[in-house]
Amino acid sequence: MTGYPIYLDHSATTPCDPAVVEEMLPYFTTHFGNAASRSHAYGWMAEEAVDQARERVAALIGAEPSEIIFTSGATESVNLAMQGVAEAYSGKGDHIISCATEHKAVLDVCDRLERKGCRVTRLPVDAMGHVDLGALGEAIDDRTILVVLMYANNETGLLSPVRGISAIARKHGVPFFCDATQAVGKVPVDVEADGIDLMAFTAHKLYGPKGVGALYVRRRNPRMRLVPLLYGGGHERGLRSGTLNVPGIVGFGKACAICSDAMDAESARLKGLRDGLITPLLRIPGVRLNGDPGAMLPQVANLSFAMPGGDGLMRIISRELAVSSGSACTSATLSPSHVLKAMGLSDADALASVRFSLGRFTTEEEVQRAHHCVEKALQRLRDEV
Ligand SMILES: Cc1ncc(COP(=O)(O)O)c(C=O)c1O
Repeated sequence: MTGYPIYLDHSATTPCDPAVVEEMLPYFTTHFGNAASRSHAYGWMAEEAVDQARERVAALIGAEPSEIIFTSGATESVNLAMQGVAEAYSGKGDHIISCATEHKAVLDVCDRLERKGCRVTRLPVDAMGHVDLGALGEAIDDRTILVVLMYANNETGLLSPVRGISAIARKHGVPFFCDATQAVGKVPVDVEADGIDLMAFTAHKLYGPKGVGALYVRRRNPRMRLVPLLYGGGHERGLRSGTLNVPGIVGFGKACAICSDAMDAESARLKGLRDGLITPLLRIPGVRLNGDPGAMLPQVANLSFAMPGGDGLMRIISRELAVSSGSACTSATLSPSHVLKAMGLSDADALASVRFSLGRFTTEEEVQRAHHCVEKALQRLRDEV
């Protein structure tokens, strides 16, 4: 794609892998059947394809196929998990624990549930973005029905101590819902070993199509109960009615299969490229990493350029680099990122932050050009002051 900026915004979305598109195509035309049609071959073909996709999606996260509910994406999965639990467990309690740096999907549902009468504890984070596990344990009371904490932060790439969180939730008998949208396909995620009871993720962050995602719903130890958001034909074990998006689901399945095979090598390659990009930048006075260098997704780095005019950096580099200054959902507004603010950054430093996120098709040459572009822009800023 000549003339376009170099794409380093894979945390916002990824291109579809060509192998994913190829596998999807017949399901738009010749294999167009409704997976719920039981009386003819068109339906059987579609159902078989959905079954295979469900197996592939489940395999990537160590789940049983029957524990995968297909949705329209992570936002819907988040809504189904949180609203579904709040209603299903309303007889047991009304208290939800989450955190200030969650994705807007989670934060908005927290607000909504609060307006409907739930109590929400929003845990603070430290300067690296970590929640204090001691504070999590202390926040749990006998009315707590859900702990909601993400696997990897979408703005900084910070990885949460998921097993530590689940151990605390388990100890108190409280279900743990994890938004793993940024982590699945990038780092090993295993719902059993990680102790996760409900988990949201989406195809378009792992080289699959947009508009399809999944909610993992644990079926035993403990069996999770949910009240659905959508009612109708009773698809997806009655938890998500609506004709299945068969081409999307097929693409999601293929994307997960590719991640299962390629993830380790891909992560190592991208970590090398990312470190090559940021290590020299971090030597520049005023440039710092937002997050914890010991607990990061391999392909993401969020840097603050805390120097005079640093908030002008995005304006200069954005002709050549497709990067993000905060999450895509909030970048339409120029307000500083709620994640960076929660980590204690000033408005100015938050606005002078850039997220670089690399992906499967990022080349070494692109990273070198990106590095050159940022250095040139910083020089220009220095010249301007
Ligand atoms: C952490 C996180 N949760 C949820 C979402 C929403 O995902 P979707 O676009 O599939 O609704 C995103 C996407 O930006 C995300 O990064």
